Amino acid sequence: MPQTMQQPKAFTISAHGAEMPAIGFGTLELGERAAMLVANAIRDGYRHIDTARKYGSEEGVGEGIRASGVPREEIWVTTKVTEDNAREKDFLNSVDTSLKAMRLDYVDLLLIHWPQPKVPLAETVGALVKAKRMGLARHIGVSNFTLALLDEAVRLSPEPLVTNQLEFHAYLTQDKLLAACRRYGMILTAYSPTARGQLLTDPVVNEIAKAKGRTPAQIALRWVIQHPMVAAVPRAFESTHAAENLDIFDFSLSDEEMRRLDALRARNLRVVNPPERAPVWDLP
Ligand SMILES: NC(=O)c1ccc[n+]([C@@H]2O[C@H](COP(=O)([O-])OP(=O)(O)OC[C@H]3O[C@@H](n4cnc5c(N)ncnc54)[C@H](OP(=O)(O)O)[C@@H]3O)[C@@H](O)[C@H]2O)c1
Repeated sequence: MPQTMQQPKAFTISAHGAEMPAIGFGTLELGERAAMLVANAIRDGYRHIDTARKYGSEEGVGEGIRASGVPREEIWVTTKVTEDNAREKDFLNSVDTSLKAMRLDYVDLLLIHWPQPKVPLAETVGALVKAKRMGLARHIGVSNFTLALLDEAVRLSPEPLVTNQLEFHAYLTQDKLLAACRRYGMILTAYSPTARGQLLTDPVVNEIAKAKGRTPAQIALRWVIQHPMVAAVPRAFESTHAAENLDIFDFSLSDEEMRRLDALRARNLRVVNPPERAPVWDLP
């Protein structure tokens, strides 16, 4: 995809002064190819990279950004602090390690990756706010926070939280959390937006894809970002996949197509549910 395909400004989402590109490049489990894949994604037009200390991809993200030739300040970089580092000192050390690994001075967005019930949320949110006030992160937010945890985090944070990053796709619509994010002026960032590929063989998704001359992934992702205040961070090893996932801003799904895809929620499928760290999720 030529560089002109990058997301036009209109395809960023605004929240509390942040302008987040609606589609980001996920970097979970990219392994040794991370730097090459990130550089290619940026050359293809991605301007939003989603990483985390836990993914082991931060070195590659930094290297990929430098190799892309695109100025760092034009790229939105998100990283996350694991639940093992929820204490203030550990949290700030983790941010420092992330920045050193990427060789960056700041990230655009810093998230608490998973809630940690063994540490008071006030301490972790305090550290998150401190990181922002130290200039290490332009914006802050949370990930995998339930309704109750999100309410508490918003109450505890003197700085605005710009996103709750959650599993969100046509099989798991998270209506209550989406409503809560909107109420707080926050973006819902959808992870696993293709349900780790499972949506791509769905008959309804395939029928709509065929009718529109698009791929199933483009339909699954268009459904996600056609919701106001929702961004998505798909991951793709295949460069053709990465390119097509970004190429979803020149068409839209009709109300009828959205309704057919909305009906897939009956499946209620959660693909990311690690027993050692997942909270008790809200009922659908
Ligand atoms: N905050 C959290 O706790 C959390 C948890 C999970 C994930 N995440 C973030 O979300 C990102 C994405 O989530 P995910 O990797 O779990 O799920 P995903 O993006 O829904 O699924 C990735 C899978 O979909 C395939 N795929 C992607 N685009 C495709 C296309 N156009 N055509 C065909 N297949 C396609 C990929 O295949 P190929 O690789 O073969 O291209 C890969 O197997 C992660 O990289 C990470 O950044 C965050």
